[in-house]
Amino acid sequence: MVDTHVEIADIEALDRDCMTLSRHVLQQLHSFSADAQDLSALMNRIALAGKIVSRRLSRSGLLENALGFTGTVNVQGESVKKMDVYANDVFISVFKQSGLVCRLASEEMEKPYYIPENCPIGRHTLIYDPIDGSSNLDTNLNVGSIFAIRQQEGMDIDGTAADLLANGRKQMAAGYILYGPSTMLVYSIGTGVHAFTLDPSLGEFILSRENVETPAHGAIYSVNEGNFWQWEESMREYIRYVHRHEGHTARYGGALVGDFHRILFQGGVFLYPGTVKKPEGKLRLLYESAPLAFLIEQAGGRASTGTQEIMDVVPDKLHARTPLIIGSKDDVALVESFAQKGAAASV
Ligand code: F6P
Repeated sequence: MVDTHVEIADIEALDRDCMTLSRHVLQQLHSFSADAQDLSALMNRIALAGKIVSRRLSRSGLLENALGFTGTVNVQGESVKKMDVYANDVFISVFKQSGLVCRLASEEMEKPYYIPENCPIGRHTLIYDPIDGSSNLDTNLNVGSIFAIRQQEGMDIDGTAADLLANGRKQMAAGYILYGPSTMLVYSIGTGVHAFTLDPSLGEFILSRENVETPAHGAIYSVNEGNFWQWEESMREYIRYVHRHEGHTARYGGALVGDFHRILFQGGVFLYPGTVKKPEGKLRLLYESAPLAFLIEQAGGRASTGTQEIMDVVPDKLHARTPLIIGSKDDVALVESFAQKGAAASV
């Protein structure tokens, strides 16, 4: 007699193993049109970049020249790490001769990078932060890559192109790769948020969670409280509020992708507010805040500067920064209520 349980379990496992990223994108779009194929191919290339970076990270402690600083400073004024350069170049390499992307804009590069051979047909711009949270690299803690895809508009090569200096609603897709205990790719093309886990034995990202929904409220607040005395009084008031009320717990890993991933799945709020001296904060709109805002909105949460939706902010330059309050909608609203009282008091 046939043991049907085993067979059903086998079939389920097989179905799961077959749900690769490129297949999932096509399924989400309900189409095999040229545009759908392009988006699927784009996601596939991003996944390839993630696999290459993940492979190097997993052996970085054993390799010469994988960790540590290059001795140079990037456009953000930050010391560049060897992994930043490596990952930045990986993304460029995987898109060369792809025919998919004419322009790449990276947090690590002062100006966008053009791939002229792709330009006649590549109708998209890839925006990315190759390694986010690189202070975690030298201690073998989680880091991530963040990406967004926009329809290309204009050909300006100095970083003033219309698709770059536009708000987050121009993003067609966004996501991140989390290099943690396992490597995960989380993405949205505007049809919900979907999470894939890299199966090293297959070398493929396999669907592990479909339609992620961020709870309306969560216990976690995630912020670098070391900046307490640099903030406006309104942010200090918010922190005093969570200290005085039960039901809040702090979690901060110092790398945005990991901190955001926890909030996306479990709820709560991540914040990186501006300071009195730097009201624009630290995080970059195009490479960090806007892609994650796209995801959190798709998962039912919110992202705000404190006074404006992140998705509505138009950058005045390629490397513009914004304060970021992101997560469960009720928790973002609570932080905003403090921020807005502060803004009202200062006029
Ligand atoms: O923008 C880079 C980044 O490393 C983020 O990944 C992270 O959230 C933040 O900076 C950490 O900054 P800090 O060390 O000031 O808390």
